[in-house]
Amino acid sequence: MLVLSVASEIYPLIKTGGLADVVGALPGALAPCGVNTRTLVPGYRAVMNAMEGGETVHHYPMFFGGAAQILTATAHGLDLFVLDAPHLYDRPGNPYTGPDGRDWPDNAERFAALSRAGADLAKAIMPGFTPDIVHVHDWQAGLVPAYLHYDRSRHPACIATVHNLAFQGQFPASLLPKIGLSSESFEVGGVEYYGTIGYLKAALQFADQITTVSPTYALEIMQPEWGMGLDGLLRQRRSVVSGILNGIDTEVWNPANDIYLAAHYDDKNLEARARNKMALQKRMGLPVDSARPLFGVVSRLSWQKGLDLLADTLPLISSVGQLALLGAGEPQLEEKYTNARSQNIACEFRYDEALAHLIQAGADVLLVPSRFEPCGLTQLCALRYGAVPLVARVGGLADTIVDANEAALAAGTATGIQFWPVNGMMIEAAIRRALRLYHDKSAWALLQRNGMRGDVSWQHSARAYAALYREILQLPA
Ligand code: ADP
Ligand code: GLC
Repeated sequence: MLVLSVASEIYPLIKTGGLADVVGALPGALAPCGVNTRTLVPGYRAVMNAMEGGETVHHYPMFFGGAAQILTATAHGLDLFVLDAPHLYDRPGNPYTGPDGRDWPDNAERFAALSRAGADLAKAIMPGFTPDIVHVHDWQAGLVPAYLHYDRSRHPACIATVHNLAFQGQFPASLLPKIGLSSESFEVGGVEYYGTIGYLKAALQFADQITTVSPTYALEIMQPEWGMGLDGLLRQRRSVVSGILNGIDTEVWNPANDIYLAAHYDDKNLEARARNKMALQKRMGLPVDSARPLFGVVSRLSWQKGLDLLADTLPLISSVGQLALLGAGEPQLEEKYTNARSQNIACEFRYDEALAHLIQAGADVLLVPSRFEPCGLTQLCALRYGAVPLVARVGGLADTIVDANEAALAAGTATGIQFWPVNGMMIEAAIRRALRLYHDKSAWALLQRNGMRGDVSWQHSARAYAALYREILQLPA
């Protein structure tokens, strides 16, 4: 089975969040299921510099304002199509924003171009490459199914995966001609979305199947509270909506051989973890103290992640424990945490892969107090690394953590702490619960070991995606 995946990020080439992890890990996980994936990504500088090969398979003399070509290439073992369009992607900054932190003013064109190239490849513009399925991720690839629909030619079936409904890609209707869509497409049953062009809306409208990254989030986005304007459409299409949990790359995240750690360990030799706690305390400038519970955060700093609420609990954390926070994002949140820095509260504001791994290996508790969370990957890394996750009972966090209530503790199945509703008071109560458990050494070790013994790999979910592909193609399971 041949799949064309289309996405705006792919780990380890370019990443702003979990989307990149998923897009980077899925092809390898799907291969044993008989699925061969090639991923189309924009030719950002980081991608152009990392790729090997680079043979032109299609040339566009004029494409969204300049010449462009589609290249085939490999990088870090990934099979890629790269949309080499320097006028759109050869820029500093991250995939979506310039160095000043603002969205690129031409994002509508930049990601329409990605989708147009994706639709062309889907229709076998490259001789010899005839995908069975097109799998598009998030709004940036959202126009692929719309282009395929309005092109009115034969095309493969399309799956759209929603990694985060909060990012919808809405642009002024006046751009329709520029992105190559006719005025006929601007209707409720088309790309129109509250008077604008909605890229994610277009994907949800025209994809043959819609998946999101956890079963609970799939239910949440069909309700007004978390449907963010799209719940009506999702309810209408509920028969093709499903949730498939993310996994993590258990080779990249393996405490037994992780190059970023001070000491390697596994579930049978958890004592060695203490050396990572010490290394983390030193690295973050915290007092080295093995007995003080160390809370960790690895996160984008955004409203979604509930870190403004967590800030209210810092007096409690600093009085009984320590905080090691690594995050980048909204300036107001950075400021809040900068002002909160103290002897026991250490915060670093940047993207730092090495420190993210050390926090997972050294923290006693990993905090994920998200208001909503489509899946979340950091709690999965925490499970694998023996940091006990303390999470909001929402989305994928609800699906991946077993709360340490009395019954689950007695049954020996608990892996972390959940709280709900998501507010400062409940986070504080959950932290107090974590503290009580932390001081019960055998209960704590059990939580850690349960987490480490669970399966957070892609294996199970890759099978679910492969089964969905087969179902769409009406192949035997
Ligand atoms: P989201 O995609 O919403 O940001 P996820 O939990 O799905 O959340 O994925 C976040 C990914 O990005 C994880 O791999 C996490 O380790 C990583 N990450 C987040 N913030 C940082 C940071 N400041 N430095 C390094 N890695 C980070
Ligand atoms: C999004 C979500 C996150 C999810 C990730 C990968 O960024 O916020 O919950 O894990 O995508 O699917």
